[in-house]
Amino acid sequence: MQLKIETAQIEKIGVDALAVICFEAEQEGAAAATAGPAADPGVAAQSGWLADLRATGEFTGKLYEMAVLHRPQGVAAKRLVVIGGGKRDKFSSVEVRRVAGTLVRSLKPKGVRSIALVVDTPNGDEYVTPAAEGAVLGDWEADKYKSDPKKNEKKLDRFSVIVPRVGSGSLESALERGRIIAESQNLTRDLVNEPANKLTPGDLAKAAQKMAGDFGLECELLNQERMAELGMGALLGVAQGSTNPPFLIVIKYRPASSKAGCHLALVGKGVTFDTGGISIKPSDGMEKMKYDMAGAAAVLGAMRAISQLKPPIPVTAYVPTVENMLNGNAQRPGDIVHSLSGKTIEVLNTDAEGRLILADAITYANRNGATHIVDAATLTGAIGIALGHYNIGAFTNDEEFLQRFLKSARAAGEKTWQLPMDEEYKEYLKSAFADLPNIGGRYGGSITAAWFLREFADPTPWVHLDIASTAWLDEAKGWLSKGPTGVAVRSFVHLAMDWNSIQ
Ligand code: BES
Ligand code: ZN
Ligand code: ZN
Repeated sequence: MQLKIETAQIEKIGVDALAVICFEAEQEGAAAATAGPAADPGVAAQSGWLADLRATGEFTGKLYEMAVLHRPQGVAAKRLVVIGGGKRDKFSSVEVRRVAGTLVRSLKPKGVRSIALVVDTPNGDEYVTPAAEGAVLGDWEADKYKSDPKKNEKKLDRFSVIVPRVGSGSLESALERGRIIAESQNLTRDLVNEPANKLTPGDLAKAAQKMAGDFGLECELLNQERMAELGMGALLGVAQGSTNPPFLIVIKYRPASSKAGCHLALVGKGVTFDTGGISIKPSDGMEKMKYDMAGAAAVLGAMRAISQLKPPIPVTAYVPTVENMLNGNAQRPGDIVHSLSGKTIEVLNTDAEGRLILADAITYANRNGATHIVDAATLTGAIGIALGHYNIGAFTNDEEFLQRFLKSARAAGEKTWQLPMDEEYKEYLKSAFADLPNIGGRYGGSITAAWFLREFADPTPWVHLDIASTAWLDEAKGWLSKGPTGVAVRSFVHLAMDWNSIQ
């Protein structure tokens, strides 16, 4: 799909579908007068049509509601589409992204091959990036392994963002930024979509190497022998139950110049399949555990975008990748492993494997000069119980760093909610036979998991993102397909890009 920016007169744009955003009537009877960019001559010509739609209640301006007029008068486009923007004062870049995605996902199956969306704001260009992101993300489907030849017939050739008023920034670079970020998020979704027989830890390492090669990043793979030499017993304990060997993927981005001192580490859980190990999971729904590497994929997607957008700080990705299986050599409940940090861990439950591999990766990041660490992991089922599917769970050992992160996440349109890390919760993590157990009790499961990680992150400022309930959509949304969401990529990229301004 080609992305374009256009500032031409709206009525002259020859596309299959010209879309304008219309808001809910601010007062009863205000009808067409409140119809979004009603000043556009192309739309104004149809105001009778819009007034009729509003009068009959066929279109009220509710968020993402749509109405389509074929062969509109005085407009070169084949269709005029009005799409609801909801309440005008609640409208933001989040809604722009979703409006663009909704247009792509609902018009593509109708055979529409080119869409132009008018984004009119006082600043002119602030909605260009989210509009581009929404279009590229909306265009992605989890259909790689569907052999239906018809799937390629309905495809979008062009999505144009129309900006009637030109603002201060460069429109082209705002569009390009949106394209880069969304294509990177789609790389994350491609990786997460791969089933575990197509993507082993070795395959993930190869995919990371290829991405790094394509985008001029340095990539190093630590294999099993190297990790054993270093003493990564926590990671290797998880890996020993699988015939597919583990890797620690390290990818480096270095800016041409940077403020002395800061070095951001991104760490992602890369369990290509989580059976639970000897503490085996129930078979119902186990197939979804192919997405247990969504944190790893988010880190790789973010590095792809970072290599092109060139933020002002060095960023290093640490991606531990294993398969949590159960063969005759699998680790058992009660096993005690020696982590890289020197702390011993009693593995009370082999299904709490993510924190074991992250512990060694976080220690390794610390030893390699990280001044700030952010990890993303599909770590606990409990996070979905606490927050549902709409917020990433965030944890920290440094309030100020978390506040900076949250600012970036908000700008990226990724809802994130902080959970507590009071010292009291640490009491849940007691082992009679080692320094730490790998599970707490029945309560506060996401918090004890975070406390476990913190034992390896301290004293470096660190943010942990539990994305178990946000990395996968069980049902399609209007703007996103069912399956992998690519969550956390945009927050990571924003954090790195905003680094100097949010200190
Ligand atoms: N990969 C799972 C967490 C998960 C659950 C991700 C549901 C996505 C959807 C993780 O390794 C796990 O199994 N966690 C256990 C921890 C428990 C044993 C303390 C869990 O959440 O049940
Ligand atoms: Zn598990
Ligand atoms: Zn897991």
